[in-house]
Amino acid sequence: MRIRSILRAGALAAAAAILAGCAGQTTRNTPIEVFPDMDRQPKYRPQRPSEFFADGRASRAPVAGTVARGQLKLDDAFYTGVAGNQYVGRNPLPINSELLKLGQTRFNTFCSPCHDRTGQGKGIVGQRAMWLPTNLQEDRVRQMNDGEIFTIITEGRRSMPSYRFQIAGRDRWAIIAYVRALQRTTGSLDDVPRELRAGVR
Ligand code: HEC
Repeated sequence: MRIRSILRAGALAAAAAILAGCAGQTTRNTPIEVFPDMDRQPKYRPQRPSEFFADGRASRAPVAGTVARGQLKLDDAFYTGVAGNQYVGRNPLPINSELLKLGQTRFNTFCSPCHDRTGQGKGIVGQRAMWLPTNLQEDRVRQMNDGEIFTIITEGRRSMPSYRFQIAGRDRWAIIAYVRALQRTTGSLDDVPRELRAGVR
């Protein structure tokens, strides 16, 4: 009986000690590693050096001539905005409110710092620096094909940097749909369907 209660007290004390180790308090003692193989795994972290590979990098390049699943970008028109040697005329994605909402969040994140939320080019960057982003409501931009704007986002143009790596292809088309919607916010009464004109002030 006595032995059993001593054992029980011991087990309780051990459990308390383990729990205390998880309490998140700071200590100068070396932590107890109950499962050292979980704390110290033989693995590489991204962008770290490696002595194993000849080029000294842990991150490996894709094997030449292969493409990762879901990364095959055969559709040139969709991923470059250019078909043959001409800009794609129209957005290849179906224009609906879901696409416009996506375009709105992406535009507000990536374009508005320079072009501002209405697209008129009065974003915070231009206010602080001697740098003039284009007014996207301008006639010249209205006349551009959708594929040309896609190319501008992808490659950059003159002083505008490229957003190829920040914005995925589908999101670029969504942004273009939203830019087209912004361009209509300064339209005329002719843009409003006839039956709704009475309500416009
Ligand atoms: C870092 C600031 C900056 C950001 C962010 C930016 N732009 Fe620009 N953009 C510019 C500047 C500056 C110009 C004017 C380039 C010039 O004429 O030198 C410009 C020009 C343009 C033009 C007109 C190009 C022409 O031929 O005149 C379009 C269209 C455009 N931007 C679209 C976008 C879209 C869409 C985004 C978001 C994906 C975006 N920009 C993000 C700075 C920016």
